Amino acid sequence: MSDPLFDAADDAAKPLQAEEREQLIPTYIISRAELNEIEHIGVSDADRWVFSRKRGDVLDTNFLLTLHRRMFREVWRWAGELRTTGRNIGVDPIQIGVQLRQLTDDVQYWIDNATFSPDEIVARFHHKLVWIHPFQNGNGRHARLAADLLAVRLGRPRFTWGSANLVVPAQTRRLYVEALRAADKHDIAPLLTFVRS
Ligand SMILES: Nc1ncnc2c1ncn2[C@@H]1O[C@H](COP(=O)(O)OP(=O)(O)O)[C@@H](O)[C@H]1O
Ligand SMILES: [Mg+2]
Repeated sequence: MSDPLFDAADDAAKPLQAEEREQLIPTYIISRAELNEIEHIGVSDADRWVFSRKRGDVLDTNFLLTLHRRMFREVWRWAGELRTTGRNIGVDPIQIGVQLRQLTDDVQYWIDNATFSPDEIVARFHHKLVWIHPFQNGNGRHARLAADLLAVRLGRPRFTWGSANLVVPAQTRRLYVEALRAADKHDIAPLLTFVRS
């Protein structure tokens, strides 16, 4: 299952930087295209694995790390490990653990109290998870899969993430990022529409 929201704009032909290659598990990989491909295999595999489990709590920090590890364990040494360096997106690395705990607690509270509709709970969960940006990479793909799993656990179908519309991937991606930015400004409506579009 391909993920049109994954931004392979990291030019597929661009060679990997030395510091990126150091963290790579398969040493034969040299191009972005090959990297994207083996990442994709791991992500699809994790997708099948996670939905084959009958139970298991998505609102658990350890599970969220396990899921990321499952997705990227064949590719990156830091799969399933929290980011330790700053990025232009995401909280300060020392805040990640606390923020994840806060998020899972908040979401559990929203579920227990039916604070929002199930879809809105899941959309808010997704937004906050990528906002935290727990990992060095793969945050978008991880937080979309985690959101889909939560949706299903709440008795809803998986999100469509813009794929129901016949628009080009670049445009879908733009709508997605705009919706995340609106959510940053406390307007969840565009994201709520987008995930079921
Ligand atoms: N302003 C933004 N621009 C792009 N992506 C953003 C922005 N804000 C949050 N994000 C999220 O970050 C993700 C990209 O982070 P990254 O760790 O590279 O994930 P992946 O490798 O799975 O694409 C996007 O898919 C999106 O969910
Ligand atoms: Mg990325």
